[in-house]
Amino acid sequence: TIGKSTNIVWHKCTVDKLDRQELLQQKGCVIWITGLSGSGKSTLACALSRALHLRGKLAYILDGDNIRHGLNSDLSFKAEDRAENIRRIGEVAKLFADAGIICIASLISPYRKDREACRSLLPEGDFIEVFLDVPLQVCESRDPKGLYKLARAGKIKGFTGIDDPYESPINCEIALQQKGKDCLSPSDMAETVISYLEEKGYLQ
Ligand code: PPS
Repeated sequence: TIGKSTNIVWHKCTVDKLDRQELLQQKGCVIWITGLSGSGKSTLACALSRALHLRGKLAYILDGDNIRHGLNSDLSFKAEDRAENIRRIGEVAKLFADAGIICIASLISPYRKDREACRSLLPEGDFIEVFLDVPLQVCESRDPKGLYKLARAGKIKGFTGIDDPYESPINCEIALQQKGKDCLSPSDMAETVISYLEEKGYLQ
């Protein structure tokens, strides 16, 4: 279904992104949180959403697990379906950013080229990649949903980090390491992201 629409013409409205941003007193962007299952993506997304909300900024979370309950419920975890999951979430995130909203996408998004494709949908600077750099052993020891255990037992095939690859970002905007005593709390991590947004003028 990609690239098969023909004879279509873009319609431009007189109310644009700049108008919406002025109304909201913020700049629309996408904060793309990537990392292994159990790395704390959803927890960070939630802490960030709350911290922004308390500052009077409008944010909205697109969580991989949640979107797979609806829009992406037709997709599996094989590579081409993950790519489609990421592509759709990237396109939806782009719409949210165009609405002037700070869109927080939190999904494993394990393949570099899929994340880069989402980055290329947005104006320069508006795609902020946040890597939750948590070692596999730590994620596996947390195993909040018991999925690593099932994957190790061969009951889930193609599990990220076990028998499906995770390609770490090379040039992400923010890397949050969770190693040993350097562990940051979710609200500390949220503040790191917020400082970045402030510095880059997204919160006005
Ligand atoms: S992806 O790779 O970006 O398409 O994945 P995502 O949409 O973020 O969904 C990840 C959540 O799905 C559950 N799950 C799996 N994860 C990885 N590999 C396999 N095979 C798998 N099967 C189910 C798991 O709960 C992931 O949630 P998180 O929040 O990342 O732990």
